[in-house]
Amino acid sequence: MHKYLQPEAEDGLLMRDSGKYAKEKLSILRHFLYMFVTSMRGKSWAALNYIDLEAGPGKNLIRETGEVVLGSPLLALNTEHPFDNYFLVEQDRDIFASLEQRVSQSDRADKIVLFNEDCNSAIDKIAAVIEGKDRHKDLGRWDSLNFAFIDPEGLEVHWDTIATLGKRIRCDLVINFSTSGITRNIALAYVSPDETAIDRLFGNRKWRTDYERLGSRKESSAVRRAMINLYAKQLQNLSYKTTEPNGEHIILNSRNRQLYCLLCASKHQLGVDFFSQAAAKFKPPQLPGFA
Ligand SMILES: C[S@@+](CC[C@H](N)C(=O)[O-])C[C@H]1O[C@@H](n2cnc3c(N)ncnc32)[C@H](O)[C@@H]1O
Repeated sequence: MHKYLQPEAEDGLLMRDSGKYAKEKLSILRHFLYMFVTSMRGKSWAALNYIDLEAGPGKNLIRETGEVVLGSPLLALNTEHPFDNYFLVEQDRDIFASLEQRVSQSDRADKIVLFNEDCNSAIDKIAAVIEGKDRHKDLGRWDSLNFAFIDPEGLEVHWDTIATLGKRIRCDLVINFSTSGITRNIALAYVSPDETAIDRLFGNRKWRTDYERLGSRKESSAVRRAMINLYAKQLQNLSYKTTEPNGEHIILNSRNRQLYCLLCASKHQLGVDFFSQAAAKFKPPQLPGFA
């Protein structure tokens, strides 16, 4: 396998500078992808597609250890059994160039479509391609089954983008939900007269009512819980089964502060079960008497 596709330190291309927590996220994704592809291939789906809305350069350099770990697009390209199509989006020009060079060496390169733009605009094109292929599927096949990994740095993925995945195509989701982005910005966003990133994240202003309802109990843990619950409810309104209530996988930074949590949304309970199994390896042991 070409060095661009392996976790080797020196391949001369950009890597994402990441904390140790990124390994946990990517390990859960790797296990999830294994279960998803292994069990869904060979069924009557018109195609099995992988969508990465924020792909990054393809490799992460773990700052605490100097270790190099493969990023989400390369994990998806290295699964034992391939997806039929890979839609990879990365907005930053230099990061995109490294991503493009790396994935060009994959023996699945002919299955990859790359987008160097904002995922909130690329999503319509991706949905249109998949809808087009589904319209021309062979007799007796179901529509395609899609999986999207949504791994933002903060609050940049709009609700409309999630709704496109939930309504226009059949697409399971694993979402990095930036709880720290929310707790950092919510007090200012709440008093802002303008449309804020949190308004776009939820696609409406209802979060303000839920935030108000917390009254004087606006500590971070209460805000996180309320916002995860609201987001999960919106996913459920798109006919998703979700990991909620309380099934999110929390990712902490090196100071034990919550950075984000991983949420799974699937049109079938099996997808959520796959995620729970993949995440279970990283759950801290439960003490008796503590939920
Ligand atoms: C957390 S990183 C993704 C890491 C990657 N999934 C991995 O596993 O290594 C987020 C990436 O999204 C890119 N990005 C930020 N805003 C974006 C947007 N609106 N659309 C597409 N990509 C974006 C950033 O340049 C960054 O590379």
